[in-house]
Amino acid sequence: MVAPHSFKSLEVIHTLAEMRQLIAAWRRKGERIALVPTMGALHDGHLSLLEIAKANADRVVASIFLNPTQFAANEDLSTYPRREQEDLERLSKAPCDAAYLPSTAAMYPEGFQTSVEVEHLSKSLCGHSRPHFFGGVATVVLKLLNQVQPDTAIFGEKDYQQLLVIRRLVRDLNIPVDIVSAPIIRDPDGLAKSSRNLRLTPAGRKAGLVLPKTISSMAEELSKGARSELVLAKGRQEIEQQDGVQLDYLEICHNDDLSAVPSGPLRAPGRVFVAAITDDVRLIDNWPAEPPTN
Ligand code: PAF
Repeated sequence: MVAPHSFKSLEVIHTLAEMRQLIAAWRRKGERIALVPTMGALHDGHLSLLEIAKANADRVVASIFLNPTQFAANEDLSTYPRREQEDLERLSKAPCDAAYLPSTAAMYPEGFQTSVEVEHLSKSLCGHSRPHFFGGVATVVLKLLNQVQPDTAIFGEKDYQQLLVIRRLVRDLNIPVDIVSAPIIRDPDGLAKSSRNLRLTPAGRKAGLVLPKTISSMAEELSKGARSELVLAKGRQEIEQQDGVQLDYLEICHNDDLSAVPSGPLRAPGRVFVAAITDDVRLIDNWPAEPPTN
């Protein structure tokens, strides 16, 4: 067997056999293992996931796999940022012990025909315009969890619907892993960190700032007792008036199951969800909204 290539203190692993060998060695020492699944083009948001992983485990594995099954044919798989060397350099300076970079052929060999679907949670919000998306995510995350068999895996709240889909998957299929969530990391201007931000022009980025600005003020109004349907109508108008931004959805949902909140003041913890296209780049964001206290 070929020894895993080392990048400073980082093990860089391309095959499942090597990954399992390393995991087995850590397990023999009784070490606890965390997985941070990524699609590469790493940014500070990913670094925060690695830090949370390290706080929860002795060993941290970051997977880098640009998963084709979560992209439809007309989506941005071909233009999704790929920066393997920079990613490995970042990981070598981060709290990360191993980078796992399986090939597409190894993840989806000829004849591959299994997928998992988390029925209801996958249908709303991003599931409307990307009906293939959560099936691809659930399947690849299940594969990665089976391959690495971590004690814990960390997912960011920026992809909040994805986080709930994965929590449901793990519960429904009795996968022995703790799913830990990590808060959204934002740039100083308020834009949520995302690998896709690399493709924004300065003008597109400026236009995209309408998203965090609108959803944060919507959440504030909701927590002051404003009626959800009025907050939603005003928020939609604000985003639709922004040049260069095409709204996909703006919704106020319950935090735990993504059901739409009824008209009237918020009665339970909610969250404002948005997706929009600017510069041909799809941006998503969300903001928690607490019900009024009195
Ligand atoms: O959030 C992502 O980067 C991806 O959807 C994930 C979880 C790594 C699965 O490909």
